[in-house]
Amino acid sequence: MRYAIVAVLLISNLSLHAQTPTKLQTKIDQQATSLEPKVIEWRRHFHQYPELSNREVKTAQKVADHLKSLGLEVQTGIAHTGVVGVLRTGKPGPVIALRADMDALPVTERNSLPFASKETAVFNGQETGVMHACGHDTHVAILMATAEILTKNRADLKGTIKFIFQPAEEGAPAGEEGGAELMVRQGVLENPKPDVIFGMHISSITPVGLITYRPAGTMAASDWFSIKVKGRQSHGAYPWMSVDPIVVSAQIITGLQTIVSRQTELTKEAAVITVGRIQAGIRENIIPEEAFMAGTIRTLDEDMQEKIHEKMRLTATKIAESAGATAEVNIEKRTPVTYNDPALTEKMVNSLQRAAGSDKVIRVNAVTGAEDFAFYQKKIPGFFFFVGAMPPDQDPGKVPAHHTPNFMIDERGMLTGLKAMLNVTLDYIYAK
Ligand code: NI
Repeated sequence: MRYAIVAVLLISNLSLHAQTPTKLQTKIDQQATSLEPKVIEWRRHFHQYPELSNREVKTAQKVADHLKSLGLEVQTGIAHTGVVGVLRTGKPGPVIALRADMDALPVTERNSLPFASKETAVFNGQETGVMHACGHDTHVAILMATAEILTKNRADLKGTIKFIFQPAEEGAPAGEEGGAELMVRQGVLENPKPDVIFGMHISSITPVGLITYRPAGTMAASDWFSIKVKGRQSHGAYPWMSVDPIVVSAQIITGLQTIVSRQTELTKEAAVITVGRIQAGIRENIIPEEAFMAGTIRTLDEDMQEKIHEKMRLTATKIAESAGATAEVNIEKRTPVTYNDPALTEKMVNSLQRAAGSDKVIRVNAVTGAEDFAFYQKKIPGFFFFVGAMPPDQDPGKVPAHHTPNFMIDERGMLTGLKAMLNVTLDYIYAK
């Protein structure tokens, strides 16, 4: 019985392995290489003129102009400034979505590059410099080039390709909605509905030439929580007259830390609970009535996420109850797990190897930061990977991190990124 099953699996596997014609692969690789100067030029333009989340007006305009010049169907104004270009081949086949994020950050650039940003803006009421300090300028340039090359090769493709240029990945300004969640709500994954979505992130701490990936949870779900502990106020000299919310809070913080260390199956996936804020009291000799704490929860698996939330509620309320206090727990789900469909990921590793070289694609650990690409993957299978752009002679521990004023990328990484996007798209089309 067992052998029979194995045989069937082998046969069905073989039949799935239709391949992109080598001639087409070679042609597209050559076109990517010859478009590299233009990719660099686009990227430098976006780098010099960065725009904050939900304010990507000129960026979106330049993207839309480019997509229209290619003759694509173009929609604008999605989730504020989002742009979608649709390439229809006229032949039956899969619908593939490719996504780039367009927003910059409230960071003042310190690099002395000829195309360094001198832009400023007001963010949360404060004057600030604006900088592409996470590399989204490279994502936009790469996807513009992907659209150009695939359009040029329309006759050799099948199905439909949607190019999604998304605003506000870093989060909408206070009081506004935005990003992938709003794009999805406004129907970016409808008419036609993609079968699959691909996205990438440039990395300033991964050597140029490398591509890294992880199946299943690759970036964490990010949830926020707050806990209000209510006790009874008294003079600091007579604690027996009080229900001390500060001592109860201290017990709750310790209790929360045992959820990850003692109650979570750590060999399955990592998890993080961080209390980042705590406030209580006004004076040395007064035990206050209330204490407040808030923090973030990071998980890489939805079941573990639910369990951790449940245990946090239980731990906080029962510890408070044991002291005669109450704890009000609020957990706000923000960004889901960036979950790479395992079967899809496995299928696409070959395509990445074609783009970067067979020894240049590395499976890595999960990242406990979050990425709103996760909202697309909640609806359809998706694959999100990382493209190295750190100059080869540098130490990843010493180069400027993402979101900092000296953030810098080695532009050669963009060609690898472009080839990766092209190869996953072609291979997905031809494997169908
Ligand atoms: Ni980013």
